[in-house]
Amino acid sequence: MNLKLKIWRQAGPQDKGKMVDYAITNVSDHMSFLEMMDVLNEELITKGEDPVAFDHDCREGICGTCSMYINGEPHGPGRGITTCQLHMREFKDGDTIYIEPFRANAFPIIKDLMVDRSAFERIQQAGGYVSVNTSGNTQDANAILVPKDDADNAFDAASCIGCGACVATCKNSSAMLFVSAKVSQFALLPQGRPEAKNRVLNMVHQMDLEGFGNCTNTGACEVECPKGISLENIARMNREYLSASLTAE
Ligand code: SF4
Ligand code: FES
Repeated sequence: MNLKLKIWRQAGPQDKGKMVDYAITNVSDHMSFLEMMDVLNEELITKGEDPVAFDHDCREGICGTCSMYINGEPHGPGRGITTCQLHMREFKDGDTIYIEPFRANAFPIIKDLMVDRSAFERIQQAGGYVSVNTSGNTQDANAILVPKDDADNAFDAASCIGCGACVATCKNSSAMLFVSAKVSQFALLPQGRPEAKNRVLNMVHQMDLEGFGNCTNTGACEVECPKGISLENIARMNREYLSASLTAE
């Protein structure tokens, strides 16, 4: 395949970016999207030009770093996949592909397609954990019975990889799907209940401090989430938040 790429280039956080055209030839439809980007970068380096900066790590849909907006969708066409799981067979010879960073005020651009998603880390640090006393006789986790449905729903919520596609696709740049997944994975389990009240209050407070917008129930986040995180998590977080607010000391 021969393709035309239109890629957002931005030298640094304060620079004015722009779309730049590239032509790439002999792309195999067996290549992954990131392999195609690797080939482009090798060509740019050979010509003495600056390669396109983009995040990637596991390349198997686990780490959540490979965040790109491709033809107007986070992680590109296809459902339930990350950019690293996208293959060039989804495109055809002669196509023009638009490649942009995830855009949100809370995700400032570092360079080209790389954005700073440390806001997610700070939300996690505000409450996305369970405190466990590891010195002494910790109770065996299997000794605490958990209803099967709750265990399944907690597991589904825990599959969020923190990629930020939900924020990038939301017209409000809301992080509610991400935060609600991180709240739900503990709220559903008995081990998460002792800290549940502080967790939801602190994580939502940090989410607001980071400048994410609010949810207006359009559901774009659920459609574009590569891990199928359900909107039900947002409803659960809202219930948890209301209950914690009304009973806060
Ligand atoms: S909820 Fe989905 S889209 Fe949002 S960060 Fe988690 S995995 Fe990514
Ligand atoms: S590189 Fe890890 S999810 Fe894509």
